[in-house]
Amino acid sequence: MKALVYKGPGQKALEEHAKPVLAAPGDAIVRMTKTTICGTDLHILKGDVATCAPGRILGHEGTGIVESVGAAVVAFKPGDRVVVSCVSSCGKCVYCRRGMFSHCTTGGWILGNTIDGTQAEYVRTPHADTSLYPISEGGDEEALAMLSDILPTGFECGVLNGKVQPGASVAIVGAGPIGLAALLTAQLYSPALIVMVDLDDNRLAVAKRFGATATVNSTDGKAVAAILKMTGGRGVDTAIEAVGIPATFEMCAEIVAPGGVVANIGVHGKQVALHLELLWDRNISITTRLVDTSSTPMLLSILGSSRIDPKQLITHRFAFDRILDAYAAFADAAKSKALKVIVAF
Ligand SMILES: NC(=O)c1ccc[n+]([C@@H]2O[C@H](COP(=O)([O-])OP(=O)(O)OC[C@H]3O[C@@H](n4cnc5c(N)ncnc54)[C@H](O)[C@@H]3O)[C@@H](O)[C@H]2O)c1
Ligand SMILES: [Zn+2]
Ligand SMILES: [Zn+2]
Repeated sequence: MKALVYKGPGQKALEEHAKPVLAAPGDAIVRMTKTTICGTDLHILKGDVATCAPGRILGHEGTGIVESVGAAVVAFKPGDRVVVSCVSSCGKCVYCRRGMFSHCTTGGWILGNTIDGTQAEYVRTPHADTSLYPISEGGDEEALAMLSDILPTGFECGVLNGKVQPGASVAIVGAGPIGLAALLTAQLYSPALIVMVDLDDNRLAVAKRFGATATVNSTDGKAVAAILKMTGGRGVDTAIEAVGIPATFEMCAEIVAPGGVVANIGVHGKQVALHLELLWDRNISITTRLVDTSSTPMLLSILGSSRIDPKQLITHRFAFDRILDAYAAFADAAKSKALKVIVAF
């Protein structure tokens, strides 16, 4: 089969690779129908993710059709259409029993990281019963591919952890796919103000179309003042960090209102300052989270009811044999205006 293989920092190749086989009774082999590229794949290619070794097939998102299942799999059979979750969960370990699938002792984020991933014609999915989700009749695979990672990430790490409330004020710093997914799912709670912050006017225009009530381009360094002005000097009840750099986390800490929450989503590779000397008396909370995908069944039913249309996030489509072009478009988003790219098999 063909697969997109990580060859070490800065290097990847579309090459012939052995087809995966069932390795444990809980496994399924899934023939991929759609996949997509995540910012995290770019992090791996930069050499930022030490757990991902050269030779690994990348990808942790997508949809497919079950080709075969191990003896212990009861929820799926060959021919079933499925969403592949970015997080694999056994459903039985101490973390899975708490719904914290991201820390599953034999799973978590392993696809396209410590085991071969979804940017290939076939993928082996461990713990298939509790890591795949069925696609119902008429389900749109492109929309559902957004459920593998970005929608649960924006919702769980941003909206749920950030305790977004009806009538409340929210700032989302970073209008990439994850920040926009937080924007789409925050609206389920009807906040009165959702201000999106980014450096890229194109992404801010997209955010406006997706329902942001205000946007701030932070290039001039005056975003904090602008947000404080919008909120009568109080700041926002929820400040969602969706970039992953010190400046944006510190901005969230400066714009959070007394009693509010800073909900961090970004993956941080550098030390970040926490100004407790300014924050200790402000009754705030700071949350961090690796996506658990515990909200996936709920998000599936919301998609089914058309309350959210994640297809709005898809800007580009490529055939799998052009996945290198898909990477090029995704990596140069400022020029290509790419958000999510769909790669079809
Ligand atoms: N916690 C989790 O489980 C989890 C899961 C998936 C992704 N992530 C992380 O979420 C973050 C966002 O992911 P994404 O795919 O949307 O990334 P992205 O790179 O596509 O988007 C980041 C956005 O931030 C903007 N930005 C950069 N610097 C800025 C600044 N100084 N001020 C304001 N905006 C700025 C960029 O213009 C871009 O639009 C990344 O760090 C990613 O690794 C976390
Ligand atoms: Zn991802
Ligand atoms: Zn587990």
